[in-house]
Amino acid sequence: LGRFSSTYTGSRRLGVNYGKQIANLQLLKETCRRPLTLTEKLLYSHLITDEARNWNVDHIEHGKTVLELRPDRVACHDATATMALLQFISAGLPRVMAPTTVHGDHLIVSEKGAEEDLQRAKLEHTEVYEFLSSASKKYGIVFWKPGSGIIHTVIFENYAIPGGLIIGTDSHTPNAGGLGMLGIGVGGSDAVDAMSGMPWELIAPRVIGVRLTGELKGWTTTKDIICKLAGILTVSGGKGSVIEFFGPGTETMGATAMATICNMSAEIGSTSCIFPYAESMGRYLRATNRHDVAREAFHVKDLLLSADEGSHNYYDRVIEIDLSSLEPHVNGPFTPDLAHPVSQLGKAVHENGWPVELSHAIVGSCTNSSYEDLEKCKQLVLQARSAGFSKFKTPFLLTPGSERIRATAEADGILHELRGAGAVVLSSSCGPCVGSWDRKDVDVKGKEKNSVISSFNRNFVGRHDSNPATHSFVTSPEMVTAFAFSGRLDFNPITDSIIGDGQQSLRLKPPVNHELPSSFQSGIDTFQEPPADGTYLSVNINPQSDRLQLLTPFNSWQPGCAEDMEVLIKVSGKCTTDHISPAGPWYKYRGHLENISNNMLTTASNAFLPNTPQMLGHTRHPFTGELEVVPQVARSLKQRGVRWCIIGDHNYGEGSSREHAALEPRYLGGTAIIARSFARIHETNLKKQGMLPLTFQDVADYDRILENDRISLVGVEDGEFQPGVPVIMRVRSKDGHGWEALLNHSYHSGQIAWLRAGSALNHIKTRLN
Ligand code: F3S
Repeated sequence: LGRFSSTYTGSRRLGVNYGKQIANLQLLKETCRRPLTLTEKLLYSHLITDEARNWNVDHIEHGKTVLELRPDRVACHDATATMALLQFISAGLPRVMAPTTVHGDHLIVSEKGAEEDLQRAKLEHTEVYEFLSSASKKYGIVFWKPGSGIIHTVIFENYAIPGGLIIGTDSHTPNAGGLGMLGIGVGGSDAVDAMSGMPWELIAPRVIGVRLTGELKGWTTTKDIICKLAGILTVSGGKGSVIEFFGPGTETMGATAMATICNMSAEIGSTSCIFPYAESMGRYLRATNRHDVAREAFHVKDLLLSADEGSHNYYDRVIEIDLSSLEPHVNGPFTPDLAHPVSQLGKAVHENGWPVELSHAIVGSCTNSSYEDLEKCKQLVLQARSAGFSKFKTPFLLTPGSERIRATAEADGILHELRGAGAVVLSSSCGPCVGSWDRKDVDVKGKEKNSVISSFNRNFVGRHDSNPATHSFVTSPEMVTAFAFSGRLDFNPITDSIIGDGQQSLRLKPPVNHELPSSFQSGIDTFQEPPADGTYLSVNINPQSDRLQLLTPFNSWQPGCAEDMEVLIKVSGKCTTDHISPAGPWYKYRGHLENISNNMLTTASNAFLPNTPQMLGHTRHPFTGELEVVPQVARSLKQRGVRWCIIGDHNYGEGSSREHAALEPRYLGGTAIIARSFARIHETNLKKQGMLPLTFQDVADYDRILENDRISLVGVEDGEFQPGVPVIMRVRSKDGHGWEALLNHSYHSGQIAWLRAGSALNHIKTRLN
């Protein structure tokens, strides 16, 4: 241990601190009587340890214990960074406390090709890009400008480090697991915690071990491993778990190929996905000019970067996959867990009446647009051309993962060959993968039925083009290319030949893996580094903007604010964060709290009103008796200085960790949410924004709350509100009748300070002052 402490303490410059991680781990192992999985080693070595946090590893329960962690790095993309940065700004800190990057990848709409699309984005999103750029400079954040590449690819090329821990405001952050870094997708307020130096909380995940044996061959790729796993576990089977690979098969794949698996593990709902150290990780690190990281990672591979011997018996579940017998998969439509081995796809296509003619073939996304992927597509194009097939039958789009990949693929002639076969090369960004696709070839508004095949990860209804009749199928890039030459969805490249107009035919041979280029080109410089001191800089926000608005810090707790509250709405049934803050057309206002608050609970069902589509999102104004949309009534009450609360049902706030769902009720003047139960992340988000989440001690009391009741809370004022001590709810009905009940809360003392300060960010600020 002494050797590692002294040798590696200085490795913080690499982006991780192996010496500290190993020392942390050794200390924790004293409280542990069993070997640790790789997931546990990486998480526990990032635990915050101090006098108040004496972790006993034997007492950490998967699925229960809340871990307090210090991530090595934070990443946000342009669609999520606006609100994250606005919150960070309102904390009043001079600079981020954790290395942070922002990536311009989601907002670029694909239409004509890389250059024109990029110009269009710069015009349409000028104010957002200027905000991200100026805020990044001021607060010490690296900004990867539009055109740099997709967030996870850029992270992989520059920051993914074996053994590290990264959180990102995007669900495919697990991509970093291809280089042995634990990547976890989070909401913006979690990112702000880490950026502000606060502990980042995570429920200790379960660990699903996946043992790989054999070796991939023929048309089978790593995409098929995750497509197969999605078929086994389904879209929710990985929930609350990290997928940890082990076994001899893990040594047979390139780093970017392993990243494909980790990336798409988000489709089975997992927290993250990780590979143990493999030689290919060292090769990739050296190819991306990170020789020092490669060297140090090699030294700690047994101590830190692989599971302890015997730990496999402690996986919560084990799945075996024999790579040698795996078949190529094409998954879809509409869900990535509808897995079809390619030999059975044609039958399914005809039985289900899915459109057989392909309308588009697309290679790209953070999942499958590496150099290795594009190079294999080129091999197929050359093969086809030598047999007289010069063009794809299906329109073909390509988004390189990053500017580095684009420049390298250009230099190596890959893009030239693909363009020659008819491919349109789009900008290095998300494009059709996230619905940023201005599609003209089918009638999207008229819901024209069509089939698309892509190398993406997600294929939910309307995901690419907002057309619910687009049948989207996901597979590997080489399969996409083979299908593009065939033009048909009932094709099987293993058994079928492509047929030309002159009736010539060709059975394509599977391409060979070329893991890395002879050298990567850096391409156009799109990197913006912040100055050492940005305190003198200002952040660009146009006060007239309807998309961006600086956040005004919330007021601190006002004594008496929980007395005589109106019930704004009594939500009945499922109420996810999508019900509380719907997306769709509201997406645009993510950086403008005042405007986006007009969507609050507009799709929720009100127990006081008939459960009909017309009544969703409505409530009766307690003063006028008029039926109005919920946010309108909330605004009116706020203007009158009247406090209000929301009554929630079971698991209130489940779904995505979107912080707007907690910011909006607070912004509109709410004091408390009283529910039968909360989804954990939303409950924490509410606490962070200064809302008071409480649960009925007797869930039947939910039914006793009537329209026009007024609620007062006893025991929530300073000096009264204590961890573990219930609160008294006094209910007074319109007819003067009253009753009392007990409410529980889950605050610990540190969180009570957030409530008093008005928000967690206010609390940080008071501590700094
Ligand atoms: Fe972008 Fe699609 Fe990945 S939206 S981050 S390319 S999943």
